[in-house]
Amino acid sequence: MTLTINRLGGALGAEVIGLDLTREPANEDMDRVHQAWLDHGVLVMRDQQITAEQQLTFARRFGTAAPHHLNPNRHPDHPEILVVSNERRKDGGGTRGSGQHWHSDYSYLEGRSSASILRALQIPSVGGDTMFANTYRAHDALSETMRGILSPLTITYDYSLVYQRYYKGRTDRVQLTDELRAKAPPSEHPIIEAHPETGRNVIFFDPTYANAIVGMEEAEYTAIFRFLTDHLTRPEFIYRHHWKPYDMVMWDNRCTIHCAVSDYDDAERRHLNRVTVTNSHAAH
Ligand code: SIN
Repeated sequence: MTLTINRLGGALGAEVIGLDLTREPANEDMDRVHQAWLDHGVLVMRDQQITAEQQLTFARRFGTAAPHHLNPNRHPDHPEILVVSNERRKDGGGTRGSGQHWHSDYSYLEGRSSASILRALQIPSVGGDTMFANTYRAHDALSETMRGILSPLTITYDYSLVYQRYYKGRTDRVQLTDELRAKAPPSEHPIIEAHPETGRNVIFFDPTYANAIVGMEEAEYTAIFRFLTDHLTRPEFIYRHHWKPYDMVMWDNRCTIHCAVSDYDDAERRHLNRVTVTNSHAAH
């Protein structure tokens, strides 16, 4: 197979042409995909009319496919797949309204994640895009003085905050029991860190789950959080993906943040399958 990689945005994003995942890709193709993912942060692989197993097989070439800790949101046959859907489920489970604020998948976990691989099955006739921001560029655009201020700082993250901030009073969400909360205990991460594969510095900040900065008063960390949110989401750091059915988009959670845009008619179905990978390794 001969792959072509075309850039899609000035800040990040590229498409991979020529990848047929109905067959097992050759190691050299997977190496190219792996390198393109590191280079561009977001990869778009169009028209992937593949099975859930084939999506999982592809994801496992990059690391361990980790089931989401909220069991009711998992795919019924493949627990490693998170169903991202605006479906109003009768059992009160599901992911309606998830991902609509800037975040990085599993930022709140100690081990975090490398890749997320999201494949569209049903997409509204208009809207429902996903925006991605490049956090290398955000780091590189900081003044030396600001880097000096942020470098020693560590943020605490807490999954349960998303329930207080965005899901308060919602009955169409999985209720966060003590047992589920215990599966994602609070964690800490430095604000500036080196990407483990490229060695380049990023700002690591997830506004959805960030709780506080260690050793700071609330007024202090609130001001820094506001600055970081505005800075990371500057228009020149963003690629916006306009979905078509069977698009499969793979992004790097260590150097991007993303956000689903909820501007579509909720009577239409938006339904995607996501696999999130931890312990990244070379693709073969
Ligand atoms: C996600 O946050 O992982 C899903 C993004 C989307 O629904 O577009």
